[in-house]
Amino acid sequence: MRRNGIKQNAHYTFKYNAALGRHGWLRLTPAYSVRLVEEILAKLDYSPRCVLDPFSGTGTTGLVCANRGVPSLALEINPFLVWLGNTKLAIYPNDKVAAFLSVAKQLMQNIESYVPVAQPPIYKICRWWGARQVDFLARVKAAFRTIQDEAIAQLLAIAFCRVVIEFSNASFNHVSTSFGDPTDAPFSTDVAKATFLSVCEMVADGASSSPQAPSKVIAHDSRSIPAECIGKYDTVITSPPYPNRISYIRELRPYMYWLDYLKTSEQASDLDWRAIGGTWGRATSLLGTWESRRTLPHYVYDIGETIAGANNKSAALMANYVLKYFEDMQEHLSSAYAGLSHQGSAFYIIGNSNFYGITVPAEKIYADMMNACGFVNVKVRVVRKRNCNRQLYEFIVSGKKQ
Ligand SMILES: C[S@@+](CC[C@H](N)C(=O)[O-])C[C@H]1O[C@@H](n2cnc3c(N)ncnc32)[C@H](O)[C@@H]1O
Repeated sequence: MRRNGIKQNAHYTFKYNAALGRHGWLRLTPAYSVRLVEEILAKLDYSPRCVLDPFSGTGTTGLVCANRGVPSLALEINPFLVWLGNTKLAIYPNDKVAAFLSVAKQLMQNIESYVPVAQPPIYKICRWWGARQVDFLARVKAAFRTIQDEAIAQLLAIAFCRVVIEFSNASFNHVSTSFGDPTDAPFSTDVAKATFLSVCEMVADGASSSPQAPSKVIAHDSRSIPAECIGKYDTVITSPPYPNRISYIRELRPYMYWLDYLKTSEQASDLDWRAIGGTWGRATSLLGTWESRRTLPHYVYDIGETIAGANNKSAALMANYVLKYFEDMQEHLSSAYAGLSHQGSAFYIIGNSNFYGITVPAEKIYADMMNACGFVNVKVRVVRKRNCNRQLYEFIVSGKKQ
């Protein structure tokens, strides 16, 4: 496959989504682009009855489908993302959106009168926010928790998440999160109130254009497709985690602690262990005792052995990480294939990865796993080059069910 001259194509990443109504409500680095999903839908040679996204994340697939009038179902293991996806897919009548904005204004006018909630138990919170930012956020949370109207409270929670990150000192890089100096961060309550209200305007803008088809995100582990979805979908469009050690929990921690989805670091690492491709906290040590089922094509275990033999103290763990990732995805693919209607098609957007200079050809392994499940007409297409490392690419691996 020729890859020379393939560009980074930022329009195929989350950056393209930032200005697109509800898609731009909250940014999550591994989110893929609206445009990619639109292009896949546009090229289908049939009208999809229902699209399944088994790895919903921020709900990009569901929202693109809903905006085009295509029903969809999505699965997601992270409860915060289940909430985010369903909030993005909900219908908000115009009077509700207007009421949301006026409630937001009232809350900001009286914000000093709310008693701040307890600060979230996130490790070393002072690295994330200065004391004044924490106090403001804790008052905003106290304020929106008093709102009885479910839809208005959800929209306020979205705006809250956005300011949680706007006011933080964190910047999210590949595997690490770095922090600025919180004592340097300027803070003015008036500017904070104005920021919250302008975020609410942005949220209201997205909320006022309603999705055109029913869609929902179900809290479920996609290694096994739930009974309520089986036979209901004729198309799969998804981007599963890549075998590259990115932890979604790491990036989502600030929202999850503030919104009470996480109370302890043990809960965070348990969730990461249940997610495919998670390696954060306890998940890393659990990999040491993980036992392979040896169900993948033989050459994948050869790659594992080469990684295990690399000159690095974590090499054996990383070999287990890669093998467990593909065994988990194999379980998912055979379940997704069984639940897919005949003549349906599946599109997996995935990236390859590299451990100690050893390439893990995810696109080939996916194609082989899909063929082994029964998919026909399995194809691999390069979408873009990821970051500056010339060896890392993003692919669409697709196949059909006869
Ligand atoms: C690459 S992200 C999806 C991004 C999504 N396409 C978007 O635009 O936001 C992969 C998602 O899969 C979820 N995930 C990981 N393991 C899962 C599992 N076993 N079942 C369901 N979801 C899982 C992660 O929590 C993460 O949100």
